[in-house]
Amino acid sequence: MQGFDKLSPNGFGALRANSPILLFDSGVGGLTVLAELRHALPDAPVIYAADMAGLPYGTKSEAEVAARVCGLLGRMAERWQPRLICIACNTASTIALGMVREVLEIPIVGTVPAIKPAAAMTKTGVIGLLGTEATIRQAYVDNLEAEFAADKRLLRQAAPGLVEAAEAKLAGRGDANGAVGEAVAALRAQPGGERIDTVVLACTHFPLLREELQAELGSEVALVDGAQGIARRIVHLTRNDDFARGEPDRAVTTGPLAAFEALAPVFAAHGIDRLVQF
Ligand code: DGL
Repeated sequence: MQGFDKLSPNGFGALRANSPILLFDSGVGGLTVLAELRHALPDAPVIYAADMAGLPYGTKSEAEVAARVCGLLGRMAERWQPRLICIACNTASTIALGMVREVLEIPIVGTVPAIKPAAAMTKTGVIGLLGTEATIRQAYVDNLEAEFAADKRLLRQAAPGLVEAAEAKLAGRGDANGAVGEAVAALRAQPGGERIDTVVLACTHFPLLREELQAELGSEVALVDGAQGIARRIVHLTRNDDFARGEPDRAVTTGPLAAFEALAPVFAAHGIDRLVQF
């Protein structure tokens, strides 16, 4: 079914079977979403974009993150005409999802902290939330808490060290245990922290450290992230689409290619063999 054209459901223009899904993150965190997307839609062409020149987002101001995300996604959408963009980053989504939706006329799927499922799971009523500094202070998170966890206790903990630890782990350098130990100790030290039975991984980088986090938190603590839900949302939004890969999938970095190439084995394990610079 290659080469056919039909009107895209959003009126953006002709949607071709080889139109990619664009997955965007500041770094490798979006791979946790890509892994779920591969299970759900193995034939969907994908471009993975990592804003390595802007990493980390979590320590930046709202204005900086919004400017980078809106500017880059605008240029990328024009260049690649994706059928859909997934902002596979909680920081970028909680800050800029609304702005991106206003300026781009294609479906945009965001990644927001999985507070709703966590609230349904907790037995003790105490939920931990690990995210970046920027994510945990967003009104978006306040609103999710008010809507879904008003009768629970939500303990938010910034864990910037885990972003770097996840990047290092995937690039084959460093040991994440120190950073994980620090983040978990800080979370547990909050009033009520000892009663946490459910932890929201509110940064797409953190499921890359799932084993280390589970070991540190204990097997009785449930870890919740949004990756499967995001993949389901993408499946739903593309349910009438045809997919045919016109060229091999690629991963694109805004930073230097040489450093990105350390991640080649990890991308290869996700079906991406071409790494290029934006
Ligand atoms: N992966 C991003 C997230 O989900 C954040 C990493 C960063 O600080 O750049 O929040």
